Amino acid sequence: MNRIRLGVNIDHVATLREARKTTEPDPVAAAMMAEMGGADQITFHLREDRRHFQNRDARLVSETAQTLVNLEMAATPEMQEIALALHPDAVTLVPERREEVTTEGGLDLVRGFEKFAGVVKALGEGSIKTSAFVGPDKEQIKAASRIGFNAVEIHTGEYANATRTNRDAALKRIVEAAAAGAKYGLHVHAGHGLTYHNIHPIVRIEQIEELNIGHSIISRAVFVGIENAVREMVELIRR
Ligand code: PXP
Repeated sequence: MNRIRLGVNIDHVATLREARKTTEPDPVAAAMMAEMGGADQITFHLREDRRHFQNRDARLVSETAQTLVNLEMAATPEMQEIALALHPDAVTLVPERREEVTTEGGLDLVRGFEKFAGVVKALGEGSIKTSAFVGPDKEQIKAASRIGFNAVEIHTGEYANATRTNRDAALKRIVEAAAAGAKYGLHVHAGHGLTYHNIHPIVRIEQIEELNIGHSIISRAVFVGIENAVREMVELIRR
Protein backbone atom coordinates (compact mmCIF):
# COMPACT_ATOMS: atom_id res chain seq x y z
CA MET A 1 0.00 0.00 0.00
CA ASN A 2 1.11 3.55 -0.70
CA ARG A 3 2.46 5.67 2.16
CA ILE A 4 0.10 8.59 2.59
CA ARG A 5 1.41 11.87 4.01
CA LEU A 6 -0.60 13.41 6.81
CA GLY A 7 -0.94 17.19 6.74
CA VAL A 8 -2.31 18.42 10.06
CA ASN A 9 -4.37 21.58 9.71
CA ILE A 10 -3.85 23.62 12.88
CA ASP A 11 -6.23 26.52 12.10
CA HIS A 12 -8.53 25.70 14.97
CA VAL A 13 -5.83 26.20 17.56
CA ALA A 14 -5.80 29.80 16.36
CA THR A 15 -9.62 29.82 16.29
CA LEU A 16 -9.63 29.12 20.02
CA ARG A 17 -7.08 31.85 20.69
CA GLU A 18 -9.00 34.37 18.58
CA ALA A 19 -12.19 33.61 20.55
CA ARG A 20 -10.55 35.68 23.31
CA LYS A 21 -8.11 37.72 21.21
CA THR A 22 -5.37 36.59 23.53
CA THR A 23 -2.03 34.77 23.14
CA GLU A 24 -3.01 31.18 23.93
CA PRO A 25 -3.18 28.52 22.67
CA ASP A 26 -0.35 29.24 20.25
CA PRO A 27 -0.53 27.52 16.86
CA VAL A 28 3.26 27.69 16.65
CA ALA A 29 3.51 25.33 19.63
CA ALA A 30 0.73 23.20 18.12
CA ALA A 31 2.74 22.74 14.93
CA MET A 32 5.71 21.47 16.94
CA MET A 33 3.56 19.03 18.88
CA ALA A 34 1.85 17.79 15.71
CA GLU A 35 5.29 17.06 14.28
CA MET A 36 6.22 15.16 17.45
CA GLY A 37 3.09 13.06 16.93
CA GLY A 38 4.20 12.16 13.41
CA ALA A 39 2.67 14.79 11.12
CA ASP A 40 4.38 14.88 7.73
CA GLN A 41 3.18 18.39 7.04
CA ILE A 42 1.75 21.42 8.78
CA THR A 43 -1.20 22.93 6.95
CA PHE A 44 -2.84 26.25 7.72
CA HIS A 45 -5.27 28.58 5.99
CA LEU A 46 -4.43 32.28 6.07
CA ARG A 47 -7.89 33.67 5.37
CA GLU A 48 -8.42 37.14 4.01
CA ASP A 49 -10.47 38.06 7.10
CA ARG A 50 -7.76 36.60 9.43
CA ARG A 51 -10.45 34.94 11.51
CA HIS A 52 -7.98 32.37 12.89
CA PHE A 53 -4.42 32.37 11.52
CA GLN A 54 -2.65 35.74 11.67
CA ASN A 55 0.35 36.86 9.60
CA ARG A 56 2.57 36.37 12.64
CA ASP A 57 1.45 32.72 12.95
CA ALA A 58 2.02 32.07 9.26
CA ARG A 59 5.50 33.55 9.45
CA LEU A 60 6.58 31.74 12.62
CA VAL A 61 5.16 28.36 11.60
CA SER A 62 6.84 28.67 8.20
CA GLU A 63 10.15 29.49 9.87
CA THR A 64 10.06 26.83 12.56
CA ALA A 65 8.36 23.80 10.99
CA GLN A 66 10.68 20.84 10.57
CA THR A 67 8.34 19.07 8.15
CA LEU A 68 6.58 20.32 5.03
CA VAL A 69 4.49 23.49 5.12
CA ASN A 70 1.27 23.77 3.13
CA LEU A 71 -0.33 27.22 2.94
CA GLU A 72 -4.01 27.26 2.01
CA MET A 73 -5.07 30.57 0.53
CA ALA A 74 -7.33 32.39 -1.90
CA ALA A 75 -5.93 33.31 -5.31
CA THR A 76 -5.56 37.04 -4.61
CA PRO A 77 -2.64 39.42 -5.22
CA GLU A 78 -2.21 39.96 -1.46
CA MET A 79 -1.98 36.25 -0.75
CA GLN A 80 0.33 35.63 -3.69
CA GLU A 81 2.73 38.22 -2.29
CA ILE A 82 2.59 36.67 1.18
CA ALA A 83 3.19 33.17 -0.23
CA LEU A 84 6.23 34.29 -2.20
CA ALA A 85 7.65 35.90 0.96
CA LEU A 86 6.92 32.94 3.26
CA HIS A 87 8.00 30.37 0.73
CA PRO A 88 6.03 27.33 1.96
CA ASP A 89 6.68 23.95 0.32
CA ALA A 90 3.22 24.04 -1.19
CA VAL A 91 0.29 26.35 -1.67
CA THR A 92 -3.22 24.95 -1.90
CA LEU A 93 -5.54 27.39 -3.60
CA VAL A 94 -9.02 27.37 -2.08
CA PRO A 95 -12.23 29.31 -2.67
CA GLU A 96 -13.07 31.77 0.08
CA ARG A 97 -16.31 33.43 1.03
CA ARG A 98 -16.48 35.68 4.07
CA GLU A 99 -19.84 34.40 5.26
CA GLU A 100 -18.89 30.71 5.20
CA VAL A 101 -18.11 28.77 8.39
CA THR A 102 -15.54 26.66 6.57
CA THR A 103 -14.40 26.09 2.97
CA GLU A 104 -17.65 24.86 1.52
CA GLY A 105 -16.91 23.84 -2.04
CA GLY A 106 -14.09 23.43 -4.51
CA LEU A 107 -12.63 25.97 -6.94
CA ASP A 108 -14.21 26.68 -10.30
CA LEU A 109 -11.05 26.42 -12.38
CA VAL A 110 -12.97 26.37 -15.63
CA ARG A 111 -14.43 29.84 -15.06
CA GLY A 112 -11.39 31.30 -13.35
CA PHE A 113 -8.83 29.77 -15.71
CA GLU A 114 -6.80 32.93 -16.41
CA LYS A 115 -6.72 34.10 -12.80
CA PHE A 116 -5.51 30.74 -11.51
CA ALA A 117 -3.01 30.33 -14.32
CA GLY A 118 -1.39 33.64 -13.32
CA VAL A 119 -1.04 32.67 -9.66
CA VAL A 120 0.22 29.16 -10.47
CA LYS A 121 2.84 30.60 -12.80
CA ALA A 122 4.05 33.13 -10.22
CA LEU A 123 4.25 30.54 -7.44
CA GLY A 124 5.94 28.03 -9.75
CA GLU A 125 8.58 30.63 -10.60
CA GLY A 126 9.10 30.96 -6.85
CA SER A 127 9.65 27.15 -6.63
CA ILE A 128 6.44 26.64 -4.67
CA LYS A 129 4.35 23.58 -5.51
CA THR A 130 0.69 24.27 -6.21
CA SER A 131 -2.44 22.29 -5.48
CA ALA A 132 -6.04 23.09 -6.41
CA PHE A 133 -8.86 22.30 -3.98
CA VAL A 134 -11.59 20.93 -6.23
CA GLY A 135 -14.74 18.88 -5.94
CA PRO A 136 -14.65 15.31 -7.25
CA ASP A 137 -15.35 16.61 -10.74
CA LYS A 138 -13.41 15.43 -13.79
CA GLU A 139 -13.80 18.73 -15.68
CA GLN A 140 -12.19 20.61 -12.81
CA ILE A 141 -9.38 18.07 -12.59
CA LYS A 142 -8.70 18.34 -16.28
CA ALA A 143 -8.63 22.15 -15.93
CA ALA A 144 -6.16 21.86 -13.02
CA SER A 145 -3.84 19.89 -15.24
CA ARG A 146 -4.15 22.36 -18.12
CA ILE A 147 -3.48 25.30 -15.79
CA GLY A 148 -0.28 23.63 -14.61
CA PHE A 149 -1.03 22.77 -10.98
CA ASN A 150 1.21 20.06 -9.52
CA ALA A 151 -1.62 18.49 -7.56
CA VAL A 152 -5.33 18.47 -6.87
CA GLU A 153 -6.82 18.16 -3.40
CA ILE A 154 -10.16 16.45 -3.76
CA HIS A 155 -12.85 17.93 -1.50
CA THR A 156 -14.17 15.07 0.63
CA GLY A 157 -16.88 17.14 2.34
CA GLU A 158 -19.77 15.62 0.44
CA TYR A 159 -18.59 12.12 1.39
CA ALA A 160 -18.04 13.18 5.01
CA ASN A 161 -21.53 14.67 5.29
CA ALA A 162 -23.29 11.85 3.43
CA THR A 163 -25.88 9.64 5.05
CA ARG A 164 -25.74 5.83 4.91
CA THR A 165 -27.86 5.85 1.77
CA ASN A 166 -25.71 8.17 -0.31
CA ARG A 167 -22.24 7.58 1.11
CA ASP A 168 -21.26 4.89 -1.41
CA ALA A 169 -22.11 7.17 -4.32
CA ALA A 170 -20.09 10.02 -2.79
CA LEU A 171 -17.13 7.67 -2.24
CA LYS A 172 -17.36 6.44 -5.82
CA ARG A 173 -17.04 10.02 -7.07
CA ILE A 174 -13.85 10.46 -5.04
CA VAL A 175 -12.43 7.15 -6.32
CA GLU A 176 -13.12 8.21 -9.91
CA ALA A 177 -11.75 11.70 -9.36
CA ALA A 178 -8.53 10.28 -7.88
CA ALA A 179 -8.08 8.05 -10.93
CA ALA A 180 -8.71 11.04 -13.21
CA GLY A 181 -6.12 13.11 -11.31
CA ALA A 182 -3.46 10.44 -11.83
CA LYS A 183 -4.46 10.08 -15.47
CA TYR A 184 -3.87 13.79 -16.01
CA GLY A 185 -0.44 13.53 -14.36
CA LEU A 186 -1.39 15.28 -11.12
CA HIS A 187 -0.48 14.34 -7.57
CA VAL A 188 -3.68 13.50 -5.72
CA HIS A 189 -4.48 14.82 -2.25
CA ALA A 190 -7.76 14.81 -0.35
CA GLY A 191 -9.30 16.55 2.61
CA HIS A 192 -12.19 18.16 4.42
CA GLY A 193 -14.44 16.60 7.01
CA LEU A 194 -12.27 13.51 7.42
CA THR A 195 -12.43 11.90 10.85
CA TYR A 196 -11.13 8.87 12.77
CA HIS A 197 -14.39 7.15 11.79
CA ASN A 198 -14.72 7.88 8.08
CA ILE A 199 -11.08 7.75 6.97
CA HIS A 200 -10.82 4.00 6.20
CA PRO A 201 -12.27 3.90 2.65
CA ILE A 202 -10.29 7.01 1.74
CA VAL A 203 -6.88 5.59 2.67
CA ARG A 204 -7.57 2.60 0.44
CA ILE A 205 -7.70 4.81 -2.66
CA GLU A 206 -4.49 3.96 -4.42
CA GLN A 207 -3.77 7.35 -6.04
CA ILE A 208 -4.09 9.41 -2.86
CA GLU A 209 -0.70 10.61 -1.64
CA GLU A 210 -1.67 13.19 0.98
CA LEU A 211 -4.52 13.93 3.36
CA ASN A 212 -5.08 17.26 5.11
CA ILE A 213 -7.09 16.94 8.30
CA GLY A 214 -7.90 19.61 10.86
CA HIS A 215 -11.15 19.73 12.76
CA SER A 216 -11.28 16.12 13.85
CA ILE A 217 -7.66 15.99 15.02
CA ILE A 218 -7.81 19.29 16.92
CA SER A 219 -11.13 18.24 18.50
CA ARG A 220 -9.60 15.01 19.76
CA ALA A 221 -6.53 16.92 20.90
CA VAL A 222 -8.67 18.81 23.44
CA PHE A 223 -9.04 15.50 25.29
CA VAL A 224 -5.85 13.58 24.56
CA GLY A 225 -3.32 16.23 23.49
CA ILE A 226 -2.16 17.06 19.98
CA GLU A 227 0.69 14.58 19.91
CA ASN A 228 -1.58 11.65 20.79
CA ALA A 229 -4.36 12.79 18.47
CA VAL A 230 -1.95 13.02 15.54
CA ARG A 231 -0.35 9.67 16.39
CA GLU A 232 -3.75 7.96 16.41
CA MET A 233 -4.56 9.38 12.98
CA VAL A 234 -1.14 8.38 11.63
CA GLU A 235 -1.82 4.81 12.78
CA LEU A 236 -5.14 4.73 10.93
CA ILE A 237 -3.56 6.09 7.77
CA ARG A 238 -0.63 3.68 7.78
CA ARG A 239 -2.55 0.56 8.77
N1 PXP B 1 -8.13 20.85 3.07
C1 PXP B 1 -8.55 22.10 2.72
C2 PXP B 1 -8.18 22.63 1.39
C3 PXP B 1 -9.30 22.88 3.63
O1 PXP B 1 -9.70 24.12 3.28
C4 PXP B 1 -9.59 22.36 4.91
C5 PXP B 1 -10.34 23.19 5.90
O2 PXP B 1 -9.64 24.34 6.19
C6 PXP B 1 -9.11 21.07 5.21
C7 PXP B 1 -8.41 20.33 4.27
C8 PXP B 1 -9.34 20.45 6.56
O3 PXP B 1 -10.69 20.22 6.76
P1 PXP B 1 -11.19 19.71 8.19
O4 PXP B 1 -10.88 20.78 9.16
O5 PXP B 1 -12.65 19.49 7.98
O6 PXP B 1 -10.42 18.45 8.47
